[in-house]
This record gives sequence, C-alpha cells and structure tokens, in this order.
Amino acid sequence: MRSYYIAGNWKMHKTTGEAVALAQALVTELASCKERVMIAPPFTALAAVAEVVKGTNLRLGAQNMGSELQGAHTGEVSALMLRDLGVSAVILGHSERRHSYHEDDALINRKVLLALEQGLEPILCVGETLEEREAGSLESVVGTQVREGLKNVSAAQLPAITIAYEPVWAIGTGKTATPLDADAVHAYIRVVLESLYGAEAARSMCIQYGGSVKPDNVAELMAQPNIDGALVGGAALKVESFGPIANFRA
Ligand code: 13P
Repeated sequence: MRSYYIAGNWKMHKTTGEAVALAQALVTELASCKERVMIAPPFTALAAVAEVVKGTNLRLGAQNMGSELQGAHTGEVSALMLRDLGVSAVILGHSERRHSYHEDDALINRKVLLALEQGLEPILCVGETLEEREAGSLESVVGTQVREGLKNVSAAQLPAITIAYEPVWAIGTGKTATPLDADAVHAYIRVVLESLYGAEAARSMCIQYGGSVKPDNVAELMAQPNIDGALVGGAALKVESFGPIANFRA
C-alpha cells in the first residue's frame, strides 16, 4: 500500500496550553491513522507537546532551526536542543522564512546538512511566487531551490529527506494548485532529483504538497501519482480539520 506523510505546521500559533490541548485531541483522533503524521508546534510548546506525543504514532517536528550547532547566536535554536526535546523532523526553507526573513538557498542548505548530520529528518520546502509562475520561471526557480537545497547531500542521506512543494500563492490564500498542476510540478521535481541521484532515488522521494490543503481537497490531491503527502498550515490548527486530512483514507 502507498504510504503518505501528513505534516501540520502550526506556524506562530498556540500558547503552550492550547498546543497541549490540540496535541491531546490529535493523539486520540489519529490513534489508528494509517499515515505517517507529524505536528510542528512553535518552539515554546515543543517540550510540553513532546510529553503528549511520546509513545504515540504522532511525530514531533520543529518549524525551523539555527544553521550552527551552538555558540553565540542570539535567538537561534539548535539541532542539539531540538533532539534533546524528542524532535525528529524539521521544516526548512519554508517560503515565510525565505521571503520574510531573507533565508537564501545557501543558508537553507547549511541547515539541511546540519539537520541530517544530527539525525533530524528535514522537510525541504520549495515553491514559486505568482510573479515567478506568470513569468514562466517556475521550473528554474523550483529546480534551483531543489538543487541548491540538496547540495552535498549524499545518496545515502537522501531517504531521510522529504521535499514539500508549496506554491507561495497558494499558502493561506484559499487558492490551491489544481491537483494536476501540483502533480506536474512534483513530476518535474523528480526529473531534477533523477539528474542528481538517479531514477530509483527520484521515484522513492517523498514529495508533499502544501498550500490550502483542506479536508475537502486532500483526497483528490493525494490521488495524484507524484503527491506523497501534505504539509498543512491553517487546517492543522484544529482537530476538526487536521483529523479528517490525516485520516483521508479512513
Ligand atoms: P496553508 O495550509 O495555511 O495554506 O499553509 C500551508 C503552509 O505554509 C504549510 O507549511
């Protein structure tokens, strides 16, 4: 049976108490979920949510991490600290980090390499803006983000990585790429991966789609041959919406 990876990016939402309540509700709701499920609360709630998900089928993720292991980096959170809390995955290169905080491909690549070295599983986010899509540069933008994000990642390390295709214009806007459009970009990402790592590695790569994924569009998106999961923002904030998304095959 095909396996899917459904991840919830809570972004800058939820106090610790709210995060614990949501995590507890999800543990119950998703106890028999068939998919691989990850939730990424804000840093401040990670320790408390770690206690809630310990021993369950929910994995704990972080939304970002510093590009250095430790040292004089005011305000940063290191891979060591995340591992210490029981975090197993980390979202890197989210478009909000790229656009609002000016993270470039070189910085994101440093984080990807460090996460792998420290035993964290990166979700590398890529995606074009509306202007880039309309200018016909979708493939060059996404191709560059994939190539540069994976620079110096070995073939042996690749299975620990997930790629999330999140068209910037579809994030938080209610606009979803049509399943066919999204699938075409996922297929293109596999072409790029094949040129770097060969056909088998490209075929096996887990590629999530993100951007206004909701209970009523998830099944159609997941039915596409190249879409292997979802990275969910707004709809990840409530058990009433994230539950049915993760349980879309139930
Ligand atoms: P929305 O699901 O709110 O569009 O957010 C997608 C996203 O950015 C997940 O990382």
